[in-house]
Amino acid sequence: MITGWHRPTRIIVDPQKITENILSQRKIIAPDKEIFAVVKANGYGHGDLAVAKAALKAGVTGFCVALLDEALHLRENGITEPILILNMVDPQFLSLASENNLSVTCGNQEWLDQVLAQINHLSIQKPLKLHLKIDSGMGRIGFFDEKSLQKAAQIISDHPQLELEGIFTHFATADEADEEYYQHQLSTFKKLLDTLPQLPRYVHSSNSAAALWHEAGVGNMIRMGISMYGLNPSGSALVLPVNLQPALELVSELIQVKLVPADTGISYGKTYTTDCPQWIGTVPIGYADGYLRSLQGFHVLVEGELCEIVGRINMDQLMIHLPKKFPLGTKVTLIGENRGKIVSAQDVADFAKTIHYEICCLLSDRLPRIYLGERDQK
Ligand SMILES: Cc1ncc(COP(=O)(O)O)c(C=O)c1O
Repeated sequence: MITGWHRPTRIIVDPQKITENILSQRKIIAPDKEIFAVVKANGYGHGDLAVAKAALKAGVTGFCVALLDEALHLRENGITEPILILNMVDPQFLSLASENNLSVTCGNQEWLDQVLAQINHLSIQKPLKLHLKIDSGMGRIGFFDEKSLQKAAQIISDHPQLELEGIFTHFATADEADEEYYQHQLSTFKKLLDTLPQLPRYVHSSNSAAALWHEAGVGNMIRMGISMYGLNPSGSALVLPVNLQPALELVSELIQVKLVPADTGISYGKTYTTDCPQWIGTVPIGYADGYLRSLQGFHVLVEGELCEIVGRINMDQLMIHLPKKFPLGTKVTLIGENRGKIVSAQDVADFAKTIHYEICCLLSDRLPRIYLGERDQK
């Protein structure tokens, strides 16, 4: 995708806040637990490399991604720490994982059978590191019965080109006040772990929510995602036990400001008509940037004032109702702080009836990402 460097619309990320968010959580996480930073989906839209570097400053000892390509991107850019790929990688590409010292997820016997069938045709110099995934109640990938888990663990341990490096599960409701299902998953995971003759180097179950509200589940490693970016995993359902600072802002500028008469239609479909003379500002951002079309009627900040998004959001532009005339080039904050007022990713998500994870991940590569303290980094 082509990035719009010559347009005043930007994502601004403060890597220092990411470092601080991890350090403040470190204080409530048992010291013997390692933290792996989850930087999939381009670091939840924040930029994987900048996030990885900020996380390393806070002492994380590894990373999690979803895709082989995301892991390769980290390696190509000098990240040498352990990297776990959380999704299953097509076995035909496992030479790449092995060459790059990447750990991969084994989520079922069928996948393992395919690996065994292909392993002699792959170039595996060092044993391929595998993490067995247990489905303790997420219903996604993973082993969920004792026998198949034991069988897979045995096959991996016996195979000279495979190494059982980890075992893990993922919670579906760690971010909810009702603990019942979380406890059910936890005990399912523990029971399955107890059936194995020995445990591998990494045992992990906790995402951000489990680390924040459940004394980090069971295991010796935390897979920390959303909280490191400064966002509350529960949205606004649960109170955070530590202070987190959102690391991302989305800003633009007014590129046109005009006083339109009453009864003027604004944007496609004429879904908004002025009922009196109004100052209308145009902002160069749209749904092709990941700013959802469903945000019509939501607001942005201009000089600390909330301004409604009027008319349909276009692919590249949107219009706002201004309380008065503002000069061209005036800053518009779509996510973040503007003169003491805040529009948070959570506010945006609430309006769009989604979660802040999605709002951040959807911000497209059309938007330049500026890192405070490293202004020239892309
Ligand atoms: C398997 C797994 N672990 C950890 C995480 C990180 O979760 P969070 O961002 O809620 O901390 C995710 C995120 O989707 C995940 O899929």
